[in-house]
Amino acid sequence: MLQITAQAITEQEILNLILNDRVADALRAVEGVEESAHSLRTLLKQAAHRPDVFPELTAPYPTHFAISPSYTCNIACEMCNAGFHIDPQPYGGRDFLSPQSWEEILPWIKDATHWCFVGVGETLDSPYLNEFLEKGIDKYTLVTTSGVGLTRRRLGELMNRKLDCLQISFEGDTVVGHGSGRPEYSQNLWEKIELVQEMKQELASTTPHLELHITVNLENLSQMNALFEKAMLRGVEHIVLFPMSVNREAGGALVEAVYRQSFAENYEGGRSFLNEIADRWRAKGLHVSFNEYQKLKEATTPCSYVDNTLLFSGLNVPPKVCCGSLDMPHMPEETGAKAYWNSFPFRYLRYLMFCQPEQRQPRDCQECLATHPARYFETMREEMSADTLDTVTIYDLYREASEAKRKLRYEEARLQFLMLLDGNLPDNLRSGVWFHLGEMDVLRGEMEAARDCFENALRENFAHKKAFAFLYLVYRILGAPDYQERQPKTPLRIRS
Ligand SMILES: C[S@@+](CC[C@H](N)C(=O)[O-])C[C@H]1O[C@@H](n2cnc3c(N)ncnc32)[C@H](O)[C@@H]1O
Ligand code: SF4
Repeated sequence: MLQITAQAITEQEILNLILNDRVADALRAVEGVEESAHSLRTLLKQAAHRPDVFPELTAPYPTHFAISPSYTCNIACEMCNAGFHIDPQPYGGRDFLSPQSWEEILPWIKDATHWCFVGVGETLDSPYLNEFLEKGIDKYTLVTTSGVGLTRRRLGELMNRKLDCLQISFEGDTVVGHGSGRPEYSQNLWEKIELVQEMKQELASTTPHLELHITVNLENLSQMNALFEKAMLRGVEHIVLFPMSVNREAGGALVEAVYRQSFAENYEGGRSFLNEIADRWRAKGLHVSFNEYQKLKEATTPCSYVDNTLLFSGLNVPPKVCCGSLDMPHMPEETGAKAYWNSFPFRYLRYLMFCQPEQRQPRDCQECLATHPARYFETMREEMSADTLDTVTIYDLYREASEAKRKLRYEEARLQFLMLLDGNLPDNLRSGVWFHLGEMDVLRGEMEAARDCFENALRENFAHKKAFAFLYLVYRILGAPDYQERQPKTPLRIRS
């Protein structure tokens, strides 16, 4: 529960109150802060005695959680989407989820049915993984790993802690993947899989179930038949396929070699080939899925992660809603898991995902590899062929417009922001521009125009907390938008 103290309250704390439906408290708090923004006061005064927004769009707390116990990895796959292609410790020198951080996460995950341990780096690097698994002895537990650190002793430790599922990531021979396509890596990997089966036999155990996670690209596409066959012969029960995403260099540019091997320029061909081959192997009794879906489709919405899972990396509070790029506004830990889960940002996400057409979804969702692979690859193609943005000039223009607004030269600022919107902008900056335009609309009393601006700001950056708070207040003043019906959420079909 958020507490208001007698000390000066910060703007962030006021925003937290608003997003947790405590508008009357926020108004009282703002009145004690002399320099609080005029726009925020105006909105709070009008919104304080109006009804909450989307109180009906709450959801039961999830049962499936992904937890990342390690932030290190020495394997350095060139395709790595977690930053280890650049540095073995890309997270500011942090190495593992500590037992202390685990205790902080525990209240959020203790009633779960499923704990999936994955990444951020190499999962088995964590010296605390055994301890965490012990706490989850009554849950369905899964570990995703490259398999490099899987020795007889390590496997014994996992089996003693009743690990239910071991998911090994391996792509066959591709220079950008695990082992860089080296034959000795591949040989070693199959031996690890054989070791798992041997130990299960020795200990007369049916677990851990074995899954193979294959990241598919142009180079290994033709190896799928051979990989499936080898996997099936060695008792792999489930193959999870996922098209390779294009990662970035430290400076933000796409990694050229990974882009060239991805489906960016050949998605349709890759998709039909994979669907056909997956059907063929399903007929032979192998369980094959695309992430969690039966077919690789052009689009699969609404997203089944929303309303079903949360991801705890331990690197940031709060947890993430998905393994892609969608972020929610930062909230203090004291908010508590269940209040956070049904706070306004989550209710608004449900409104967009289950009650609105796809074009209204956050930009990150519209271009997500898991749910809109064709569009994701299209954006990669566009980015690869686009001229490099002159960010220095763009940021200068943005600063000039913000300065004009700060000095109350609203007409000048408005014109400058509108001109920026006409050009090519980074998404976060576009979101900022919409927010400034919305704030000036509030000051002019143009609430409907302000509402549209804040909605646009959030579409471009779903973590923009101030835009969330302002939109919430404007919705209270104007009345929450009507919607016809809520589509049922998509069930999460993974693992039982
Ligand atoms: C970042 S790894 C962390 C866990 C562990 N180190 C491993 O490799 O399994 C998590 C998953 O992301 C997959 N992965 C890595 N880079 C990827 C990419 N560019 N596209 C799609 N999946 C990728 C890996 O194959 C693995 O299954
Ligand atoms: S093993 Fe996993 S974490 Fe390490 S570089 Fe490869 S994909 Fe990234």
